[in-house]
Amino acid sequence: MHKTKDSFEMDYTSFKTEVSKSRRSATTRELTKIAYSAPNHVISLAEGMPNEETFPFTEISIKLKDGSSFTLDDQELGAALQYIPSQGYPPLLRSLREYQRKLHAPPLWDSRDIVIVSGAQDGLSKTLEAIIGPGDPLLVHDPFYPGVEVVVSPHKAELIPIPQDEHGVDPKILRETLRNRELSGKKMPKIMYINATGLNPTGTVIPLERRKEIYRIACEYNFLILDDDPYFCLYYDDEVELKSFLSLDTEGRVIRLDSFSKVLSSGLRLGFITAAAPLIASIELHLQSSHLHAPTLSQVILYRLMKLWGYDGMMRHFTGIKRFYKQRRDETVCLAEKHLNGLADFKIPRGGFFLWINVRGIEDTWKMLMQRGIKEGVIMAPGGAFMKDPSKPCNAIRASFAKASYEDIELALIRLAKLIRDQQEDNYLYANGNTYIN
Ligand SMILES: Cc1ncc(COP(=O)(O)O)c(C=O)c1O
Repeated sequence: MHKTKDSFEMDYTSFKTEVSKSRRSATTRELTKIAYSAPNHVISLAEGMPNEETFPFTEISIKLKDGSSFTLDDQELGAALQYIPSQGYPPLLRSLREYQRKLHAPPLWDSRDIVIVSGAQDGLSKTLEAIIGPGDPLLVHDPFYPGVEVVVSPHKAELIPIPQDEHGVDPKILRETLRNRELSGKKMPKIMYINATGLNPTGTVIPLERRKEIYRIACEYNFLILDDDPYFCLYYDDEVELKSFLSLDTEGRVIRLDSFSKVLSSGLRLGFITAAAPLIASIELHLQSSHLHAPTLSQVILYRLMKLWGYDGMMRHFTGIKRFYKQRRDETVCLAEKHLNGLADFKIPRGGFFLWINVRGIEDTWKMLMQRGIKEGVIMAPGGAFMKDPSKPCNAIRASFAKASYEDIELALIRLAKLIRDQQEDNYLYANGNTYIN
């Protein structure tokens, strides 16, 4: 059942869109929720659940790389193959609440709740659609994850880009932007999108002091912070003390998105949202009207994994992943230094999966990558894709060091170096009145 206690002194209704405020619960979904938590003697004929006897599966066994294993059978397999309440598989919800409380120790924990979603992107779209209505302004750091733009552009939202330096979004510019907006009487933003750790695409990690300052500004100008944090355990400076926005949230204005995509499996399609209970309730209503709930089988597998490993086992797994990607980051940086020397500049990414490369002497990398790159056997993401206005020229490139072998990463960088040289040469010829070879 949802927590109803609303002890944060915030009026969440004022943040919600008209569509979100008009959502009503589906009676059948509410009955599923009631049936799930009812005592055993209660018989439910209310739901439209299929009979599990007709399903062809008898057992699902999972073997883990650490040598352990577990099996889903009988009642648990039945549950894993069935409809569940929209908020999530109740035993997993309990495990995740405990996990979140331990990991982030959020102030006023009892006033918050969680909802399980099909990955952070699902959480992102449902959260933004609860808050961003037609023409509403949205604060973003620039560059930013394009999964945001695709959600809000159909609503004709106004993106307010805040520039970043090597430590992420600049609080001084954020404050100045808000002050100017207020003075000019423009509509004030209700929410800011932040990807605080291992930013996709630049790999920045916002330091703790800056997080605190951004949070202070959010309180001052009364906006919510949507912290999309799928790389939360992938920051590579061990000596840095980090706290999530959720840990700092005394006023109930942080909506935190967690994802298991980068740390367990992206194919499980699981993530969860942590926020003040009234906001979670709105998002649950949206789920009731869209895909009913995140996949049950994935949720039961995650539940069993968390039970098997416990909190400490999960943390050990995350530490191993961090070591894995840190080594890849280091190797990729060495290879980029070797092959892009004199051609491009980049900062060593402090977290996440990506190297953000600024190419010298080329105004825009889009055509070079999207037309010539593919022909030359290399695909990298043009920086423009991560900008507020992708049609403006951008000399950056995002290259992932997460998956390809070191041999392939090196080959890709060699091919990129050739592309840059060719493009620079063409630019030179063009500037000097010779034929432009496209
Ligand atoms: C910043 C950011 N947010 C959200 C997502 C989507 O993640 P998920 O697989 O959990 O939907 C990604 C995936 O690349 C991402 O980088």
